[in-house]
Amino acid sequence: MTGVLAGVVLLVTLVLALSTALLIARRRLVPDLPVAVTVNDRAPFESRFGTDLLGALAAQDILLPAACGGAGTCGQCRVRVRGEIVAPMPAERARLSRAERRQGMHLACQIRLRAPLTIELPEAILGARGFEGTVLRTRFLTPLIREIVLDAPPDVTASVKAGAFVSLTAPPHDLGFDAIEVPERFSEDWAELRALRAIVTAPVTRAYSIASTPADRRQGQLVLLIRLALPPPDRPRLPPGAVSSWLFHVKEGARIAASGPHGDFRAQQGTREMVLVGGGVGMAPLRAIIHERLDQGAPQPISFWYGARRRDDLFYAEEFTALTRHHPNFRFEVALSDPRPDDGWEGRTGFVHVALREGFLRDHPEPEACDYYLCGPPLMIAAVMGVLNEAGVPPGRIFFDDFGS
Ligand SMILES: Cc1cc2nc3c(=O)[nH]c(=O)nc-3n(C[C@H](O)[C@H](O)[C@H](O)COP(=O)(O)OP(=O)(O)OC[C@H]3O[C@@H](n4cnc5c(N)ncnc54)[C@H](O)[C@@H]3O)c2cc1C
Ligand code: FES
Repeated sequence: MTGVLAGVVLLVTLVLALSTALLIARRRLVPDLPVAVTVNDRAPFESRFGTDLLGALAAQDILLPAACGGAGTCGQCRVRVRGEIVAPMPAERARLSRAERRQGMHLACQIRLRAPLTIELPEAILGARGFEGTVLRTRFLTPLIREIVLDAPPDVTASVKAGAFVSLTAPPHDLGFDAIEVPERFSEDWAELRALRAIVTAPVTRAYSIASTPADRRQGQLVLLIRLALPPPDRPRLPPGAVSSWLFHVKEGARIAASGPHGDFRAQQGTREMVLVGGGVGMAPLRAIIHERLDQGAPQPISFWYGARRRDDLFYAEEFTALTRHHPNFRFEVALSDPRPDDGWEGRTGFVHVALREGFLRDHPEPEACDYYLCGPPLMIAAVMGVLNEAGVPPGRIFFDDFGS
């Protein structure tokens, strides 16, 4: 017994001694030196040797979009490094094209500061800032999509351009789905979800597009559409989405840490015909863009093609139908891919890319002369790209917002 105890004490002492030696070695080998970072042509700021560039910029209130929180998977924290080419990290090879890497593009979360660095960032990013939004109201729009309206500082809402997004940070949480208040009409869809639990031990940040109309923005409101990320059907034991689960729990009055606005998904200037195609929460930036252009008195034809599965998955339809009455240049088309018999649906059926091909591209005299804006599930985007390609639309006329999953 005494021998076992002596062995344990020896082992613990050895581990402690090794950890202390490692800490001392790290301190000696990783010098605590200042490193200068220059952004565009601003005065340089000082960070510390070994800091990651994303964190160094955040410490200066330069908030890059970072939906994966620095894991190197979202590909959003892009910067261009001026001067000497820095060897790309594996995550950068995966997220940046060869052409982008040749131009000096990097992911800020993957760069450790070891020498003075000069980077270029779009001026729009330098306008983004951290803020807290207060939940004004929330409601279910479909079984898995929730609208959250945030009261945000006026300077933030004033700087939002239609198509932009904000980054929201969820604090650590342990939340059971049985605590989520679900409207009666969706209770059947939720029967099996009640057993889920979201356990998150550190803050997590994700991107959410702003669906606000100009009128919402004038009232200081950020409208967000959150789709609950459920475990994949073939792996039901995986945890549900970290941030979307938390956002399904937040109630009126809750304060949410955010930064933004970010992003460069925008309507092109000019009078080209605009065609917007969306599905699911891809609605968010498209709604903002449509309202903004109509509000600005855009003279060109604008059509919005929205795909949903069944009637319950369709939302804001009355709003867009009302827009068609007030704006003769606006057209709204919905295709339901799997309507239920009791949906009473008499509109288009099938996938939205087929509806677009049959109802627009086939008879349009010049589909290659329009601008196309796509946002929705990756499979939908790929299918729409396919029919646009068939119709001879050049890639340069297609703009899409990639939600990354
Ligand atoms: C520019 C931009 C704009 C966006 N706008 C919107 C928007 O308006 N609305 C919106 O809803 N979303 C939007 N997104 C997506 C959003 O940022 C999040 O990616 C989404 O909400 C999921 O985040 P989460 O933290 O809830 O899920 P995560 O925790 O990231 O999980 C994602 C999925 O992975 C599964 N998973 C969990 N653990 C594992 C594991 N070990 N292995 C494999 N899978 C696992 C989860 O079950 C879930 O299905 C946008 C993204 C971008 C980049
Ligand atoms: S923060 Fe997501 S790739 Fe850098």
